[in-house]
Amino acid sequence: MANKVTLEKIVALCKRKGFAYQSSDIYGGINGVYDFGPMGYYLRQNLSNLWMNDMTKGQQDVVPIDGSILGPEIVWKASGHVEGFHDPMVDCTNCKKRYRADEINLEKSCPSCGKKAWTQIRQFQMMFKTNLGAMEGSSATAYLRPETAQSIYINFKNVTSSTRVKIPFGIAQVGKAFRNEITPKQFLFRMREFEQMEMQFFCKPEDADTLFKSWLEKRRTFHKKIGLKQEKCRTHPHGPDELAHYAKEAIDIEYEFPFGWKELEGVHNRSNFDLSQHSKFSGKDLSIFDDETKKSYIPYIVECSVGLDRLFLAVICDAYSEEEVEGSTRVVLKFDPKVAPIKAAFLPLSKKLSEPTRAIYENIKKLGYNVQFDSTGSIGKLYRRQDEIGTPACFTYDFDSEKDQSVTVRDRDSLKQERIAIDQIEQYLKNILK
Ligand code: GAP
Repeated sequence: MANKVTLEKIVALCKRKGFAYQSSDIYGGINGVYDFGPMGYYLRQNLSNLWMNDMTKGQQDVVPIDGSILGPEIVWKASGHVEGFHDPMVDCTNCKKRYRADEINLEKSCPSCGKKAWTQIRQFQMMFKTNLGAMEGSSATAYLRPETAQSIYINFKNVTSSTRVKIPFGIAQVGKAFRNEITPKQFLFRMREFEQMEMQFFCKPEDADTLFKSWLEKRRTFHKKIGLKQEKCRTHPHGPDELAHYAKEAIDIEYEFPFGWKELEGVHNRSNFDLSQHSKFSGKDLSIFDDETKKSYIPYIVECSVGLDRLFLAVICDAYSEEEVEGSTRVVLKFDPKVAPIKAAFLPLSKKLSEPTRAIYENIKKLGYNVQFDSTGSIGKLYRRQDEIGTPACFTYDFDSEKDQSVTVRDRDSLKQERIAIDQIEQYLKNILK
């Protein structure tokens, strides 16, 4: 159906324009794992840089780290994941299809084969387990991290003793996480290998409630700043039966994806659960001495956690638009210019004008802007190509350009065209990227 954003249209566009491809595509694909093409790479870089800058350049003290993906078993015992990170699984004994038991109605028959022949519900450990080196046995058992947060907790002491940060402060990280999801689905929404952007804010226990509220507001402001439509974002506080094993309070920021309202980001008050557990299991003192009260305490943690891939999907769905222009459908990604993979395109009106157009493109590229030059089609075709990857500005060099040292700039969203001097191009880009 025209003008309606569907996941099928998004998946097709992502593949066609180099945003995301099914991993191991030429071998039939691997479920729940994706590779990112050139446009996807730039978009992810922009989102993760915007996130990290927002975290570390704000009013609060937040420092970055980059932790390892592999962690020894004891880390995941302390975190509660070995014990508690399971999903309930059920199989159809007739067609052998596997489901998450909490996602289907077991009173009804199998949606795949129509028979009602369920196995017992079993708990399925979602962490990927491996062995370090040639040894087997529990001392060599390691897991791929199912959340990046634990890398931050186990480095809490390292960071406080190697930098000058003082409570309250945060540690932020962007990195890979892995979950052996029983039913990965909805494209980049639920994957087996994905990237998280997590910030853990360490504070005094009595400040956690206030900080929880203020971080939630900051995160909502961030989503607005990167251009997500506000009517498509809402919050959902967790009821007692929804809370994760570590959480004292949790609120999801939800986004209305083409397949419904779903969690985009979680903000959690994790109490002192994590540092207490790691103190207990490592035997290391992770408490902080309070100079005012002269007492030691284990800090509370307020966490903001968003999946980069899930945000990427939300941003593409949000930007996707189909419009009727001059009798045909134009597909356009109306990204906020800060997020757009390519900031501008330089297009000659005729192939004969390629050389001077390319010279302008190279000058702007040298200034550090991610821009494109394209001369491989009619101007109408070149515009549409840029629309589909969400390039906010197209500069066209025509037969008057040499004389008046000007180009025509076309705005992606309004389609308005104006004449600007070539030496004003950089200023134009600075203005739209503010
Ligand atoms: N450290 C807290 C934590 O990991 P979570 O709610 O399990 O909490 C946080 O995950 C965020 O990570 C989610 O809001 C989502 O954006 C992203 N995420 C979680 N599982 C994912 C998956 N299988 N595929 C893609 N993103 C995922």
